[in-house]
Amino acid sequence: MTDQNRKPYLTNNAGTPVGDNQNSITAGSRGPTLIQDVHLLEKLAHFNRERVPERVVHAKGAGAHGYFEVTNDVTAYTKAKFLDEVGKRTPMFARFSTVAGEKGSADSVRDPRGFALKFYTEDGNYDMVGNNTPVFFLRDAIKFPDFIHTQKRNPATNLKDPNAVWDFFSLSPESLHQVTILHSDRGIPATYRHMHGYSSHTFKWTNADGESVWVKYHFRTEQGVKNIDEATGTRLSGENPDFHTEDLYAAIDNGDYPAWKLYVQIMPLKDANTYRFDPFDVTKVWSQKDYPLIEVGRMVLDQNPENYFAEVEQATLSPGALVPGIDVSPDKMLQGRLFAYSDAHRYRVGANHEALPVNRPRAQVHNYQRDGFMRFDGNGGGAPNYEPNSLGGPAEQPESKQAAYEVSGLAESVGYDHNDHYTQAGDLYRLLSEEEQTRLVQNIVDSMKPVERDEVKLRQIEHFYKADPEYGTRVAEGLGLQVPQNA
Ligand code: HEM
Repeated sequence: MTDQNRKPYLTNNAGTPVGDNQNSITAGSRGPTLIQDVHLLEKLAHFNRERVPERVVHAKGAGAHGYFEVTNDVTAYTKAKFLDEVGKRTPMFARFSTVAGEKGSADSVRDPRGFALKFYTEDGNYDMVGNNTPVFFLRDAIKFPDFIHTQKRNPATNLKDPNAVWDFFSLSPESLHQVTILHSDRGIPATYRHMHGYSSHTFKWTNADGESVWVKYHFRTEQGVKNIDEATGTRLSGENPDFHTEDLYAAIDNGDYPAWKLYVQIMPLKDANTYRFDPFDVTKVWSQKDYPLIEVGRMVLDQNPENYFAEVEQATLSPGALVPGIDVSPDKMLQGRLFAYSDAHRYRVGANHEALPVNRPRAQVHNYQRDGFMRFDGNGGGAPNYEPNSLGGPAEQPESKQAAYEVSGLAESVGYDHNDHYTQAGDLYRLLSEEEQTRLVQNIVDSMKPVERDEVKLRQIEHFYKADPEYGTRVAEGLGLQVPQNA
């Protein structure tokens, strides 16, 4: 293709040399362009197809590669192979993101941050798709599309809409805990490096003896938690909307590799029935006094992507990508997510998205799925494409079955059986220093001020009041309103 002294020559996508990449073929220098210029046609047509749909949420993000190293023996709890030996390293990929904004939106906005990890384990890919907060706004997947509509743009004005945001929050009191975190100092991390990550949901770990426990993950930043205030966030949104993206890239480029320590909270299976609230409710945290943090390992990001589209935009991470030793819990949000992500990936990237380099497992893939758009590996060659077969095709591995789990109850549309949305939100408020409380209240007041209907504001003030009377009273005062009588 090239000799020592020459640049590689330009080709079209079929590998054929291109003679002229600056001038279209025209009928004379003043004449119209000829359709026979297939190189021009290919360039224009390919350009038209450069975009894949952005993620419907978490569209703006940054990613990097690295590794995970086990630092503590957790084999008593899980048989997951990538966690089975202290010192074992597993290659991984991480993507951090904002939630509500579009792909080109500013990084330094008040919003949860996505904290999505892919571990290329010997048992196939394990994804941990969490956020930088330990709880979520909702606890049933059925409410997620409505919630996201309120975070995105108004259908008529195409503007962000505080009326929709607070109307929905005030009618969904389960959001109060996360709403409080969001408007606290942690609502705008200084960078992606300076935030913790959480599974938020409960998962189930099962050891080699078949014994299971419930588990929640905490990735604690070694850089320390740092946040920025609303004014700094607003300024950066204008001055450098890609501030967090740039920071992550530059840190890794300079050899200043960001790292996080993974800890887990472990709950014995039987405690779930008697704990003071339903431990699968993702709007709640488990007390660390009840279930202290246990160290697991350390994740280090030490390599930037070489190509953003190939490695970050096309990355597909799913809470349903699990490995033997790690299963789901009955958390109603998590259960919905098990459908949503892989479905989004098939739509956004295609049915064979797992064959792309960033998504491809480092473990061998053997199954009977074939064909589909963009099947660019060997497609199973001539091996049997059905099962059962007597031709020595890949066979199931019974020891990798999910651990059995007893369930009972009536099949019906039913919520969690407890509705205390106030205790943990109030505890958090009371835990904050006077200055932190003042900034929290101010951030809420600034966000609620543009809401047009007092009815919405008063409904939300009631929730703050129920969490802590002082909290509700201060928000009401900031908005020039009275706490409602019935609060
Ligand atoms: C991305 C759905 C709740 C964290 C996404 C995507 C969808 C989705 C469709 C885009 C996926 C893609 O195109 O690749 C949902 C639904 C939820 C839910 C239906 C509730 C039922 C949550 C929760 C968390 C979370 C509770 C965190 C604990 C993330 C993250 C991403 C994401 C981090 C970005 C993943 C990446 O970087 O590629 N979500 N989500 N989501 N979601 Fe959720």
